[in-house]
Amino acid sequence: MVARICPSILSADFANFESEIATIGDSDLIHVDVMDNHFVPNLTFGLATVARLQQLSSRPLDVHLMIEDVDRWAIEYAKLGVFSVTFHAEATSKPAALAKEIKAAGSRAGMALKPATPLEDYEDVVAELDQLLIMTVEPGFGGQKLIESTLDKVLQARKLIDHASLDCWLQVDGGIDASTITRAAAAGADTFVAGNAVFGAADRNLQIRTLRSLAEQA
Ligand code: DX5
Ligand code: ZN
Repeated sequence: MVARICPSILSADFANFESEIATIGDSDLIHVDVMDNHFVPNLTFGLATVARLQQLSSRPLDVHLMIEDVDRWAIEYAKLGVFSVTFHAEATSKPAALAKEIKAAGSRAGMALKPATPLEDYEDVVAELDQLLIMTVEPGFGGQKLIESTLDKVLQARKLIDHASLDCWLQVDGGIDASTITRAAAAGADTFVAGNAVFGAADRNLQIRTLRSLAEQA
């Protein structure tokens, strides 16, 4: 199994993104959390900041939209040329159409599910996705503890993807570190967001490589 590690810059120094990104060159993707203080009770940054990150990052950007108005904004992020744009299923009434729009604009399309959102409600949409994100914490903040019951949904998503032979990455986000990544990988995740676990490490690139090898051995 190939495991992809996506450090989340939510845990980086917001006044020094350029130098922070330079410390995580071994990452597969850089995870960028956009929050609007409506969909989640926290606020980060918007389109202009992501546009600048896209110019200066040597790694592909994986944009996670925790915003209400995805029907309006998702396409704008895709137009920046970022690698992937992930919207929350709970924030749109037309997830399949939105995924198609994102792909038509040139980005990979992802859809995220909050811990309480059942996969059953969205099984038909998965065929349109390049990435399914199972939130392993309540979205909004870094540094939370992984909710173990969400790994059942990861297992269920893995079965769905494999059974239908879909080309869809299965991502987990929240509370992923050296002690939890093995369980998330064993449940079937192949793409791992890690905020505190990477940015809190003394040697961030070593931590990225360690997480990747733990996941690949699971
Ligand atoms: C939380 C964000 C995550 C966050 C993860 O809502 O979506 O990407 O940065 O942080 P850790 O890995 O510290 O739980
Ligand atoms: Zn995220």
